Order: sequence, then structure tokens, then C-alpha cells
Amino acid sequence: MRVSMIGAGYVGLTTGVCLAEMGHEVICADIDRDRIAHLNAGSTPFMENGLAEMMSRNVAAGRLAFTDNLPEAVANREIIMIAVGTPKGAAGEADLSFVREAARRIAPHMSPKTVVTLKSTVVVGTAREVREIIAEERGALDFWVTSNPEFLREGSAIHDFLHPDRIVIGADDRDAADRLIELYKPLLRRDVPLVETGTENAELIKYAANAFLALKIGFINDVADLCESIEGDIQAVARGIGLDKRIGPSFLAPGPGYGGSCFPKDTEAFVATGRAHYAPQPLIEAVIDRNAKRRRRIAERILDELQTARRPTVTVLGVAFKADTDDVRESPALYIIPYLQEKGVTVRAFDPWAAANGAKLLPDVEWYNDPYEAAEGAHLTAILTEWNMFRTLDLKLMAERMRKRVLFDCRNILDPETVIEHGFRHLSIGRATLPRDGFARRATEAAPARNLLATSAKRS
Ligand SMILES: NC(=O)c1ccc[n+]([C@@H]2O[C@H](COP(=O)([O-])OP(=O)(O)OC[C@H]3O[C@@H](n4cnc5c(N)ncnc54)[C@H](O)[C@@H]3O)[C@@H](O)[C@H]2O)c1
Repeated sequence: MRVSMIGAGYVGLTTGVCLAEMGHEVICADIDRDRIAHLNAGSTPFMENGLAEMMSRNVAAGRLAFTDNLPEAVANREIIMIAVGTPKGAAGEADLSFVREAARRIAPHMSPKTVVTLKSTVVVGTAREVREIIAEERGALDFWVTSNPEFLREGSAIHDFLHPDRIVIGADDRDAADRLIELYKPLLRRDVPLVETGTENAELIKYAANAFLALKIGFINDVADLCESIEGDIQAVARGIGLDKRIGPSFLAPGPGYGGSCFPKDTEAFVATGRAHYAPQPLIEAVIDRNAKRRRRIAERILDELQTARRPTVTVLGVAFKADTDDVRESPALYIIPYLQEKGVTVRAFDPWAAANGAKLLPDVEWYNDPYEAAEGAHLTAILTEWNMFRTLDLKLMAERMRKRVLFDCRNILDPETVIEHGFRHLSIGRATLPRDGFARRATEAAPARNLLATSAKRS
């Protein structure tokens, strides 16, 4: 099929490349001329595993092209997908101005019988609004506006697109739905579940899904706090919860709070939608509040450790909001690092992919090309992103480089016992700090469940 993608960002580019890989003829259009120039020169605007190779393969095969010429991109297309940004508006609502603008721009150039579909995450009623915008411009032109939310995750975007848990098609017309079903036939043939519904349900599915995932993260983080108080082990508790099939193990990893380009804005837009429709969403309001407090709590824990340090220095390992991406949007590091700096802490940082993006938003951070250089002279090292390379840190070398051996593993990716064997004080999430004062005394007094090393770190 002939597909036009409006917006060549994370979602637009990944979707365009994958649709080309599935055999469709795709043209990706973007108003950012530099971005299009780079794409035409063969380079991707962000890091995503496997994307560059798949992109060049499909360009070479003649199935994929890039343009900043919107009229050329939308004429004679069977499907036009809108994948522009929907950032947070001033009062937390979704800012739909890019979507409206894209609709206005494509309207004059669309051919009859085109299916326009919204890939962007948009609030309930947006498909209807886009239909009105195009109709205002084109009057009687025969066209459809549908909703097809995207659920890919940065870092595994290609895999997620090609192996989705489900495809959601929101259409208020049979022919339009069939056109999208045809588009996804290569995936549907493999028994990927299809959810066919109206546009408004499809729009709500995306927000409700992200709100629920944020709720799971917020919940496990609160349970982690409780574990810290009772000297329990969140790893064991999360595993015990997640093995229940009704709950499932994913999104039960405690950490410094969620970030990224989706959860923070989508939870707020969900709450704003609830208010607008007189159906408040207090659970998600609480999750948003807890997430903001969580980042501050992590920073406070770091400051507590630095109380006796003169010219305190902290090494941050990882500024990306999660592993396998160079995206730092709404990353916990963007809150924790400035908080520390305000209190007079010098911050040295390393991230394998996201340093360049981090440097644009984090002034006065000293950046290094490897974690050991970054650790030089530090009073504390905090792991903020769960990069695989941090799981195999050379702790002996870290210990030699640092001024004080304090390691705060905010993603629980290191084995606590191994860390303390290297002479570190080990802080993590939802577990006791080790070694701790009075440990021997408390170990004899405490109930067996509190005996942390034997039960918690090793067996979970
Ligand atoms: N990033 C994710 O992981 C993810 C996952 C699922 C859904 N989403 C949703 O997908 C949408 C896009 O997100 P993203 O992360 O890809 O954003 P992005 O900022 O990476 O990309 C948006 C692109 O749209 C372009 N653009 C803006 N207005 C345009 C116009 N009128 N014509 C052509 N191009 C235009 C911008 O220049 C930019 O390149 C958002 O609604 C987001 O919530 C994102």
C-alpha cells in the first residue's frame, strides 16, 4: 500500500521503516528540514537498535523515502498517518496544536478516498476534530479519519512494532477499518490480536494503558519504600507479586520514578481528560504526585550520604530515562542532578548514548567517556539508568578511583553482596543499606525474614 507518514520522530520514523519492511511503499514527511536532510544522507536522528540498518535496506529497495515537501508526500496515498508530537500543555492537558496543524497542512493535497489515521497519542475526540478540520478545507471530499495508537517502547521500538501485543484500530466506518486491516495483514496473519472499535475508544485505550503502567510503577515504588522501613527486600516481594498471572511481572521494577516522553505527559493528559468529562481520575493524580516526590527522595538520600564530605562530588551513571535509548526527555536525572547541584554538589556523569542530549539540558555537569574516569574522586556513585554495561562494572576499579566508596544502585541491578565485598557502602531501592550500623546486633534480634543477605539478594 502507498503510505504517507507525517512526522519522522521516534514513532513516525520507526513506524515508517517497519511498514516499508513489511512491503509497503512509505514516504516520511517532516517540517524539520535538518532532520530530513540527515535522513536522506542515511543517518537516523536518534539511537534505536537495528533502525539504521533496516532504514538503509528499505531506502535501497525503493520502498522508503523522506521529504520536507508535504504536498508531494500526501498526494495519491491510500493511508496518511499522523505521528507528530502531542506534548504537555500549560495545564497538563495534551497540546494538540501539532496535530491540528498537520491536519490543516495535509487537507489541501489529499486525494479522494484517503484514510487519515492518528498514530500520535491523542485525547478522546481528536479524530472527530481532525475530521472537521479537513472537512472545513475540503468540503465534500470523500475521506475517513481513524485512530491507530502506537504502543512501541523506545529501546525496543522495532521489535515492539513488528511483534505487538495487539493492534488497535479505531474507525467509525467499515471501509476505513478494512484499509487499516489490510495495512497490518502481515502482522495479523501471525495471529496478533486485533482490537477493532470506534475512534474514541481507541483514543482512550492508549491513555488508559499508559496510566495503568505508570500506576504499576508508582505502586511498586511505594511498596519499595515500605520494604526499606521494614528491612525487607523489594526484589523478593516484586517477584512474589508478579508471578501471580493476574498481575504479571512487568513494570514491577522499583527505581527512581518513571520518565520519558510518554508516561509523564500521558498521565497528566489522562487526568485532564477525566476532569474535562466530569470523571476525575484520583488514582492517577496520586501517581503523578508520588512520582515527582520520588525523584526528590532519591536526591535527598544522596545528600544524606554526603553530609560529612568537603566539596561533595557525585558520579551519575546513566542520564537516559531508560536503557537502550539516547532519549533524556523527563528523565529522573534531569531532576536529581540539578537538585544536587543546587545544594553545592559537583556532578560528574557518564552515559553510553545519552551524554550529548543530557549535556544540552544539564549545565555544569562534567561529562566523561567511561564510568571509571567519571568516578575519579567521587564521594558517591549513583546508577540512574539500567544500562547493561553497568551490571558488569569493574567494582575493584571503581573502588580505586572513588574518594569514598558509596554506591547507590537506583535500579537494583548489582548484587549487594558483591558490592559490599569490594568495600562499598551499598544503597539500593527497597532494601536495607549495607553494611549497616548495628547489623550484628539486629541480626540476632530480628526475625528470620529480616535476615537480609541470605534471603534477599541471593535468592530473589
Ligand atoms: N516516543 C515513544 O516512545 C512513543 C510511543 C508511543 C506513542 N508515542 C506518541 O507518538 C507521538 C509522536 O511522538 P514521538 O516521540 O515520535 O515525537 P517526536 O518529537 O520524536 O517526533 C515528532 C516529529 O513530528 C514533526 N512534526 C511536527 N509537526 C509537523 C507537521 N505539521 N508536519 C510534519 N512533521 C511535523 C517534528 O518535527 C518531529 O520530528 C506522540 O503523540 C507520542 O505521545 C510516542
